[in-house]
Amino acid sequence: MALFITFEGGEGSGKSTQAKLLLKKLQEHNIPAVLTHEPGGTALGNELRRVLKRKQGTPIAPGAELFLFAASRVQLVAELIRPALEQGKVVICDRFVHSTLVYQGYGRGLDLTVIEMVNKIATQNLRPDLTILLDISPEQGLMRRRSLEDRFEQEALSFHRSVGEGYVKLAAADPDRWLVIDASLPKQKIADIIWETVSKLLPNFSA
Ligand code: TMP
Repeated sequence: MALFITFEGGEGSGKSTQAKLLLKKLQEHNIPAVLTHEPGGTALGNELRRVLKRKQGTPIAPGAELFLFAASRVQLVAELIRPALEQGKVVICDRFVHSTLVYQGYGRGLDLTVIEMVNKIATQNLRPDLTILLDISPEQGLMRRRSLEDRFEQEALSFHRSVGEGYVKLAAADPDRWLVIDASLPKQKIADIIWETVSKLLPNFSA
């Protein structure tokens, strides 16, 4: 059954780990599923990811950054996400449209309405059925990182605070589609909470 689930969260929130655990759980139950991530997930997307994350080189203007993330998204939706959903698979995506709203909107200060419009064009109106937010304070999240390796991790604490606040606002505005989890909980506890919600969205599924 086609189901589109996205993971969101600040740096060091553990969302990539949880996305992998969810994929494993689905596979254990023989539910066809794919895991992908943004920016990236395609050959073009991976090239854009390198440009977007690298510390050296020409500074990237916020508007250019917005369109680079959008370009990666157009390609990922067309090449992987839509075809997988059409085949009835569960698609898990580590970051999606909400990352742009919080990082480029709340973080960089770009107009949220403009970002929503760009997101709609990039996804052709595809929306996640469920978005899982791993909520963590920036202090805690950045501490979990061994070294601050990319352009985003190196941003000021105030930038990461705005990102975190943005996530909380987005989730509160659409509670039916968001599952907010305290990222400081033990890893297995988080995985159990996620599975409890996801398994309910799978018709004819009994745990
Ligand atoms: P990550 O996948 O390793 O978390 O790195 C992606 C970085 O890019 C992360 O710092 C968040 C940022 N990002 C944006 O700023 N906007 C976006 O639309 C996406 C998908 C990611």
